[in-house]
Amino acid sequence: MKNADYLTGITTSGTPHLGNYVGAIRPAVETSKNPDLVSYYFLADYHSLIKNYDPGLRKQSALEIAAAWIALGLDYENCVFYRQSDIPEIPELTWILTSVTAKGLMNRAHAYKASIEQNQEQGHKDLEQGITMGLFSYPILMAADILMFNARKVPVGKDQVQHLEMTRDIAARFNHVYKKLFILPEVVVDESSAVLSGLDGRKMSKSYNNFIPLFDTQKNLKKMIMKIKTNSLGPDEPKDPDTCILFSIYKAFASESETMELAERYRKGIAWGTMKQELFEYIDEILKNPRKTYEELMKNPFDIDVILKKGAIKAREFSVPFLEKIRKTIGIQSIG
Ligand code: TRP
Repeated sequence: MKNADYLTGITTSGTPHLGNYVGAIRPAVETSKNPDLVSYYFLADYHSLIKNYDPGLRKQSALEIAAAWIALGLDYENCVFYRQSDIPEIPELTWILTSVTAKGLMNRAHAYKASIEQNQEQGHKDLEQGITMGLFSYPILMAADILMFNARKVPVGKDQVQHLEMTRDIAARFNHVYKKLFILPEVVVDESSAVLSGLDGRKMSKSYNNFIPLFDTQKNLKKMIMKIKTNSLGPDEPKDPDTCILFSIYKAFASESETMELAERYRKGIAWGTMKQELFEYIDEILKNPRKTYEELMKNPFDIDVILKKGAIKAREFSVPFLEKIRKTIGIQSIG
């Protein structure tokens, strides 16, 4: 197995939603099919440990996310699709990297700083209250995910850019202290890939609880879309597409010409009821077949396990010998 041209991880702490699809899954599915690229996609289950302490939720989330990616067409034969926890070399590398990482670098991490600020705002005396070492040092685990496969490019959302900068810092530090083993990975923030609005108009996100699940029943999908907030303009009044949640969701799925056509109908006046019905039908058409596959997979989780285990075997063709090389480089080897 070759090192990764593309690599990205998905934290297993929630249910996959429409925002995940347009932001991460759809572009990854495209890349996964490219025969000229080696792309690695993995379920970041160790990362989810710092988000919640619910074993059932973690397991269910891994199952749902894996099933969703497969159902939406991930080419798991061509790419490398695995669970982080099936690669024991990753936590091992995490410790090796931890020992070359400056604590000051971690002090600057946004997620950590946000938790400190939150404690401040809430008037806690101890500003470190509730902050685990996992939260504090998780950028190092993320660096290990990436450096374990010497990934060249890492597609992520904007909120992860700082972690990629840290990964480069950590890699450069290791290369300087020991030997040049790591490629410095490049971050890829796809500005064109859509950020979807949620039910309340803020970014669709698990943290805001404003999301539409990808694979709920057809009936519930319709119910969710009908619930999206609109203004009180009457059916025939002209409407502004650019400030409308329904329109922005449609745009994320439709082609450019379809989007332009709809914008025109907005300006002429379209009834909210009609628009909601059409949006539902449009999305349902896209999800109809994947939903069937998803439901089949959820009934047969063993099949998903087999796919992930095969992926781990492929991934370890790279990580096992590479970690061996890293260990030798740092003087952890047979002493005979
Ligand atoms: N931390 C990332 C997120 O919350 C997920 C992730 C874990 C990841 N390891 C990674 C992304 C490695 C890219 C590469 O979105």
